[in-house]
Amino acid sequence: MGTDDYELDHIMLTQDVISKRISELAASISEEYRGEELIFTGVLKGAVIFMSDLVRSLDLSVDARMDFIAVSSYGNASTSSGAVKMIKDMDTYIADKHVILVEDIMDTGLTLSYLREMLMARGPETLRTCVLLEKPDRKKVDSILDYRGFTIPDEFVVGYGLDYAGKWRNLPDIWCVTKH
Ligand code: PRP
Repeated sequence: MGTDDYELDHIMLTQDVISKRISELAASISEEYRGEELIFTGVLKGAVIFMSDLVRSLDLSVDARMDFIAVSSYGNASTSSGAVKMIKDMDTYIADKHVILVEDIMDTGLTLSYLREMLMARGPETLRTCVLLEKPDRKKVDSILDYRGFTIPDEFVVGYGLDYAGKWRNLPDIWCVTKH
């Protein structure tokens, strides 16, 4: 199915609203990790734009580092099966370190839950999760979010890192997409 079957319908979250919320998240994180080294671990590709804005909003007293993980979920592209295949692991050794796992969206929560367990096994000093968007209607796991940007209804959203078939990640706002 090509992207031609889908079109941008309306903006759900403007760049201004997103930016203000990220400032609040960054202020909370800065307060809690002042003076500490903190490894932000983004899940490619969707988290790239959110994480790059988040780390630039932090107080300079946080010693922020950046690393990335790439995974692919098995099964069909729009429904997460929970089985996650590691495509690229992070490079940083996280034992005894403070880590925040960063995602653009938590849908069923299976991807984040799997990655959290995997990183916990490496013995970080602390491991927290930070997600820009949560769809509570789709959630299949217990609450695992420490920092949440927005809770949103179960709509197909793109922009600000989120894609449909690789498209629309570069949109500054978050849009709802409809099939036509
Ligand atoms: C999205 C998102 C999460 C996952 C969430 O990634 O970035 O990794 O799906 O779904 P879940 O909560 O149901 O597990 P996607 O597979 O679309 O890859 P991308 O980040 O490269 O767009």
